[in-house]
Amino acid sequence: MNVRNTRREFLGFAAAAAASAGLFTRTAFGRSLADKPALLGGSPVHLGGWPQWPEWRQAWEPSILEVLRSGKWYRGSGDKVQQFEAAYAKLLGAKRCLATASGTTALLVGMHVLDVDAGDEVIVSPFTFIASYNAVLMLKALPVLADTDPATLTLDPASIESRITERTRAIMPVHIYGMPCDLDPVLAIAKRHRIAVIEDACQAWLAEYKGRMCGTIGDLGCFSFQNSKHLPSGEGGAITGNSDSLVDRAASFHDCGRSYGTFTGARPNFTRGGNFRMQHVQAAMLLQQFDKLVQETARRRENADRLTAALRDIPGIQTVRLPGDSRAVWHLYPFRYDAERFQGLSREKFLRAMRAEGIPCSTGYQEQYFDGLLDEAIGSRGFKRLFTAQRLKQYRDSFRDLPGNRVVCATTVAIPQNLLLAEPRHVDHIADAIRKVQAHAAELAKA
Ligand SMILES: Cc1ncc(COP(=O)(O)O)c(C=O)c1O
Repeated sequence: MNVRNTRREFLGFAAAAAASAGLFTRTAFGRSLADKPALLGGSPVHLGGWPQWPEWRQAWEPSILEVLRSGKWYRGSGDKVQQFEAAYAKLLGAKRCLATASGTTALLVGMHVLDVDAGDEVIVSPFTFIASYNAVLMLKALPVLADTDPATLTLDPASIESRITERTRAIMPVHIYGMPCDLDPVLAIAKRHRIAVIEDACQAWLAEYKGRMCGTIGDLGCFSFQNSKHLPSGEGGAITGNSDSLVDRAASFHDCGRSYGTFTGARPNFTRGGNFRMQHVQAAMLLQQFDKLVQETARRRENADRLTAALRDIPGIQTVRLPGDSRAVWHLYPFRYDAERFQGLSREKFLRAMRAEGIPCSTGYQEQYFDGLLDEAIGSRGFKRLFTAQRLKQYRDSFRDLPGNRVVCATTVAIPQNLLLAEPRHVDHIADAIRKVQAHAAELAKA
């Protein structure tokens, strides 16, 4: 792990703490809340950076070179992708896995084989990376937004049923930031209405819900292995599932419509399809990172628990509630920020002050349904042909009926996952920095 910490960090804090001895509460490491905020010229709480991401290990190189030297680079020759599929299915306890070019294409292929077609509707979690919306739009279906539960930051099951219409084909819960969505009520609704559940687990490798891995519980699950992810290969994705016929259909559709397993017809190409294949080099990268993923997931969890315990005592910081008997993997670590408890310090100024203290952080996703993407889609020729003007107007109006998501978008602060790979004493700097910013909130608000 590549951590750059220096003795300056300790000496800086020790000196500042001595100068203000007795005036303010001391943090666990001798720093004082009286220290000037870094944004106003004081020393940062954290110096020396954080573990870098992604990480390359020289020991992985022979396996990559073996693929490159073999000349067997694509799925149709060589076997690394197939090895990866078997190993990933085993790691997750899924019956099957199909590797894809990306998480977006995994969602696209998955929804296609779940019979999402032009003119259909898919209920989607609004608090997600835009790819979840886009995959639905690419199938010329309408991503209907259900609400977000401000306590969990995931899909509020109570908001789903009122949004189901005769065109609804699937529900897409998103395990955002690696936090499991409460799936049982979602599955019950889907069963009652005979619609499919496709889990967007693109940020949730090894997240668990009631003893099962996220991505293996709905009809299909989709993963991303893009560069920033906990299991990265630059680009890449996977579909997991327990139905041979669905995964065989997916394998066919992702490979130009070729016959595959139980899904056979006129050969070689008997159905529609595209090229959504993973390459062997990507699979070779992924295969070597399984142990690392397992170890780092445990470390992130320990550090996240430690951070949650520290944040609970800070007024104005609300940590996330995970659904019962679930375990997150923290692709980002989010909490909700109440500016009123910080002397009216806006979230944007809070973020700036935290970054100056050496703590990278950002807002979560914004109300992206107002950004124009969905307007562009529903204003297009295709969507106007597929949906009535009345339905499209009603759809557009429904964006204003997402009160939970509005609150979440306005108040969430998210800490990137690599901070949770640091030594616990450095993770403590996150809560220390928040306390320091809070102690100086009035000055910072004026700055
Ligand atoms: C929640 C979510 N869904 C879908 C995707 C799409 O994955 P990819 O970037 O691999 O296409 C991502 C990727 O960031 C994601 O975070």
